[in-house]
Amino acid sequence: MSFFLKRLVYSKAAKFALGTTITCTSAYAYDSNTEAQVLSRNVRTLYNGIALAVDYKFNFKPQKSEEAGLQIEQLHERTANRVFDTFERNGGLYIKVGQVIGTQAAILPIAYQKRARRLFDSAPAVPFESVERIFKEDFDGKHPSEVFAEFDETPVASASIAQVHKARLKNGDVVAVKIQKPAIQKQMNWDLRAFRLLLNVYERIFDLPLTWSCNYIEEHLRMETDFEIEANNAKKAWKHIQEEPSLKDKLYVPKVYDEYTSKRVLVCEWVDAVQLTDKDTLQKSNLDPVEAMKIAVEAFASQIFRSGFVHGDPHPGNVLVRKGPNKKNPVQVVLLDHGLYIQESEKFRKEYCLLWEALFMLDLEKIADICKEWGITDPNMFASITLQRPFTGKKALHTGVKIDIQDMYEMQLHMKERIKTFLKDQALFPRELIFISRNMNIVRANNKAMNSPVNRINIMARWAVRGISRGEGSLSSWRSFVFECTLFFMSLSFWLVRLKDATNRYLFGSKARGLEDILDETMKEKMYEQFGVRIDPSAFDA
Ligand SMILES: Nc1ncnc2c1ncn2[C@@H]1O[C@H](COP(=O)(O)OP(=O)(O)O)[C@@H](O)[C@H]1O
Ligand SMILES: [Mg+2]
Repeated sequence: MSFFLKRLVYSKAAKFALGTTITCTSAYAYDSNTEAQVLSRNVRTLYNGIALAVDYKFNFKPQKSEEAGLQIEQLHERTANRVFDTFERNGGLYIKVGQVIGTQAAILPIAYQKRARRLFDSAPAVPFESVERIFKEDFDGKHPSEVFAEFDETPVASASIAQVHKARLKNGDVVAVKIQKPAIQKQMNWDLRAFRLLLNVYERIFDLPLTWSCNYIEEHLRMETDFEIEANNAKKAWKHIQEEPSLKDKLYVPKVYDEYTSKRVLVCEWVDAVQLTDKDTLQKSNLDPVEAMKIAVEAFASQIFRSGFVHGDPHPGNVLVRKGPNKKNPVQVVLLDHGLYIQESEKFRKEYCLLWEALFMLDLEKIADICKEWGITDPNMFASITLQRPFTGKKALHTGVKIDIQDMYEMQLHMKERIKTFLKDQALFPRELIFISRNMNIVRANNKAMNSPVNRINIMARWAVRGISRGEGSLSSWRSFVFECTLFFMSLSFWLVRLKDATNRYLFGSKARGLEDILDETMKEKMYEQFGVRIDPSAFDA
């Protein structure tokens, strides 16, 4: 090539490079200043998504040394940080996805569980002008001052999707106004496309069944960003409470003001109440924390086994406690945040009740039947996950076996096979279970945070039996007897743990350990021995 031609080509290439750099930088700078930051967020997702794949593809290898084991742990830690840092920086719907991933304790490496625990669902509040704008857009140009006599411009809470303001209507009612952040609707379709793309790529390169979760994630995110759905959920939950005589005065759902509710604005009755796990404030306000926890556990158990309409996010910020309506009910639990609910199919609800009953009857045949129906090929593991305690039926676990690092690696590989066979027939696997395990994990963490004052598993089992009788079937007298016996032994172990704990505290002033702690620890050991999976028992502490 002649000298001039070369110069021409180089100068063209240089111009192209310069042009591209300027265009990208300006697009990026412009995008960073927009509300939705669509470009920057997607670039961040793709960059980190690819980095994660490359890291695993090259660094997850079988080797026979302690050092190699350590390297694998570091790899998990590195990628967990990468994934969750990206979720946090992108914010919005990513936080919701992070929360979904974080509750899948049974299949995640410990580093992910630890990092998920630190996932930060709090975001700076948007300025009041944005609140005014959204309100006007959704209510035919009406300014908030036309509806509210007072409106506190500083929100009481601000999270990834919405912020809540306290206000007073013109008729004097005090209300909570939940306003969706303006960027959320703009980001949603992009975010969903990005997840779909990454999961498709991962499915291919790692040979794991992942894309089946896309529809589930999508459905879940769309529900949470439509406040009209939230308003309907709240009403439906309230209706179910009215249908349960034993819970009627014990539970409350704030009334929704339909006339001031849209897809992005939700106005409901304000309640002054204390968070479920805020022991000190509860005690100061003369509200019995144990009774409150019991009502909360009953509330969600009744949803799972009786109404089949289940709250997806029962963490303490959404479960408040206040004074009850009468002497018989001195404490009342208030359920907030009805953005995410699932409706179980009637078939599933019944089968799930029967499964719980079977777990208490040690009816292995029935457990295996239900699991088969659901496409689950590993009933023991499934039973353990359901009860969140080791379940082995009659077979003994290979306990006491020392595991070296090579076994550990092989178990992790084997785990992949287990996940694959666990979900062998994905079409049969009830999607309800994903939400139910999430609900139960959070309720368990609430109970644990208060040092397990409540025998959660027994309460659940009782509601399961009540759930069976809601349909046509009920227990025969023999089954009922065996069931009561198991409940009795469960209660006995619950009270023994409490007695031992109280004695220890009294005699030695040692740290309290509730039943949930002990179940967690045992579960952790068993999961490690059986599957080489390490669970951090504190991963879901509230
Ligand atoms: N009706 C209400 N009465 C009093 N406080 C409320 C009410 N609704 C929401 N809040 C407060 O706002 C917070 C966030 O509301 P929530 O509906 O849970 O929104 P998010 O979906 O952002 O978590 C709650 O934890 C609670 O402190
Ligand atoms: Mg909430």
